[in-house]
Amino acid sequence: MSHQVLVMDSGIGGLTVHREIIKLIPDITCHYLADNGFFPYGTKTEQALEERMELLIRRITKQHAIDAVVIACNSASTAVLDYLRERFEFPFIGVVPAIKPAAKLTKNKKIGLLATEGTVNRPYTDKLIAEFASDCEVIRVASQPLVTMAEMKLNGLPTDINALQEIIQPLINAAVDTCVLGCTHFPWFRNEFKLIAPYIEWIDSGEAIARRLEQVLLPIKDNCDKSSTDYPVFFYTGNSYEQDFTKNLSFNITKIEFN
Ligand code: DGL
Repeated sequence: MSHQVLVMDSGIGGLTVHREIIKLIPDITCHYLADNGFFPYGTKTEQALEERMELLIRRITKQHAIDAVVIACNSASTAVLDYLRERFEFPFIGVVPAIKPAAKLTKNKKIGLLATEGTVNRPYTDKLIAEFASDCEVIRVASQPLVTMAEMKLNGLPTDINALQEIIQPLINAAVDTCVLGCTHFPWFRNEFKLIAPYIEWIDSGEAIARRLEQVLLPIKDNCDKSSTDYPVFFYTGNSYEQDFTKNLSFNITKIEFN
């Protein structure tokens, strides 16, 4: 039996992290939770996110022997990691904007941060910038519509390239040479961003999170005590997805109901 991990987000953003995990650790059982019923996370308060995520994690870990949880969402990770770590015994891995690698990569010392309203405005992000990019100019662009556009893209709807261009225009105007995709939904537009601004390096944390998870799992014995599954489950709340984009990931799809 392989390690069982839960990757969670407000929707399909965290799948950009999930795909890096299964690429690096193919024998893992990687469950996914899309919390559609509470979408979006980027505008929610810290307290609302804490309560919601604790509830969902308790529900899932009652039935599945989870070895680690990946909060594949910058908006939640920059707010609730400490809270969750205090309440559960298994390890949590969070996703935070890739400011540190961006500061190493930039040549002109101008970095963009494209993220949700929550992430852009969190004290956690201020600290990251002060610690790792104090010698850079960081241009922050918050976009909630981009999160919805990513959900629409994965539901099979066409992307409006002009709308994308408008969202990233402040970064182009500021002449950033490196841009942090500080929301896990945004790597779904990497190709489009590259097409609009090929001279910008678009970076995210997906691969780094997969490497971190691999390290965290090393000392953990596979948890076989509880009744466990060896197939990955795609949990969701709220509306189901119209497009079966999970087909080639061979997930079992399960809705989490609330009374
Ligand atoms: N994908 C998430 C993030 O990384 C959440 C987006 C949202 O629901 O607002 O921030």
